[in-house]
Amino acid sequence: PAPQPLRGLRALVTAGPTHEPIDPVRYIANRSSGRQGYAIADALARAGAEVTLVSGPTTLPPPAGIALRRVETAVQMLAACEAALPCDIAICTAAVADWRVAQAGTRKIKKTPGAPPPTLALVPNPDILAHLSRPGPLRPRLVIGFAAETDDVRDNATAKRQRKGCDWIIANDVRAETGIMGGDENEITLITATGSEHWPRMSKDAVAAGLVRRIAATFATTPDI
Ligand code: C5P
Repeated sequence: PAPQPLRGLRALVTAGPTHEPIDPVRYIANRSSGRQGYAIADALARAGAEVTLVSGPTTLPPPAGIALRRVETAVQMLAACEAALPCDIAICTAAVADWRVAQAGTRKIKKTPGAPPPTLALVPNPDILAHLSRPGPLRPRLVIGFAAETDDVRDNATAKRQRKGCDWIIANDVRAETGIMGGDENEITLITATGSEHWPRMSKDAVAAGLVRRIAATFATTPDI
């Protein structure tokens, strides 16, 4: 049988994009496939963790042995995350929309001949990673974020780790030519409070497996984390 170093630990993973409605038929979205988050949820479950996967809209089959909570919007994603607490480990891989439409229409916005196109007023969405990272009795023991960057990847991600208050951040270079966003492979830099390490390009499953090994080692060597 496979070793289960995370047995007895509860994990929360967010994955996928969010869809922010404009009206009942239209929405704002992004190119996240959810693959890295689903791979991480799968690897955590195989390592024995009790996993809740909070997923935005994706076409991926759910990993075996996890609790899947499907959501559409960032506001719904935050509520589903809060409902999954307490947990020991939280990993935010979701590409949450930064903004939502201030007043989504309850009816389809009509195209009126001769009238100017509508303008969309946006308001900021909650930052789920920052929210989960806040100190307090429900803060997970280990909070991990992702940083999709196109420039100055390590420096931006290091600043983001501090700004968000998470423990680790995983930076990836999402310039279009890398093919990482929506692809099967990833190339990451893992940033902790004490340093950073670059991992060579590998499959998203291999990134997930490596991350789970690091998490297990951390809980084994720092039991009071
Ligand atoms: O700020 P930025 O979106 O670049 O940060 C990325 C990290 O923050 C990811 O881990 C992402 O899942 C998380 N995030 C979040 N809620 C948001 C925005 C980002 O959880 N509203």
